Amino acid sequence: MNLKPDTLKRIDEVITHYPVKRSAVLMLLHAIQEDIGYLPPETAEWVAAKLELQPINVYEVITFYPMFRQKPIGRRHIKVCRTLSCALMGGYKTCETFEQEFKTHRGEVSPDGEVTVEFVECLASCGTAPVVMIDDDLHENVSCAKAKQLSDQIKAEAAKRR
Ligand code: FES
Repeated sequence: MNLKPDTLKRIDEVITHYPVKRSAVLMLLHAIQEDIGYLPPETAEWVAAKLELQPINVYEVITFYPMFRQKPIGRRHIKVCRTLSCALMGGYKTCETFEQEFKTHRGEVSPDGEVTVEFVECLASCGTAPVVMIDDDLHENVSCAKAKQLSDQIKAEAAKRR
């Protein structure tokens, strides 16, 4: 696995926190996803070797939890809440706005590699619906107009990087 030295160090350290190695499986998967952005196919085998498990045991965990991704995502991750309050307040339209702005479909990487737009469940800010997380930042009351504004911001940041 092509992990950063810091991630490898963190993984080795995390394992020591658990009396039974296998209990560290979720922590390891999170660390790998944070580093690479998703869990590549060799993950199950690599983690299994670290934790003295069978790869199938790790694979079951990867496929059980929706927060683990098995495909790469765009540089920015746009997560739109689709649970009740957000759905009632226009979350679906908000999501469509992001999709149109980046010419992409939910769950796919946009053609410029800049974003992946996804639906997620309740982000625990139902009173300010519709709610969107962009990477680690929560955005409240994201109307279509605000989604357009946020998209322009992401595009401007991407242009600066080029
Ligand atoms: S329903 Fe969207 S944050 Fe709770």
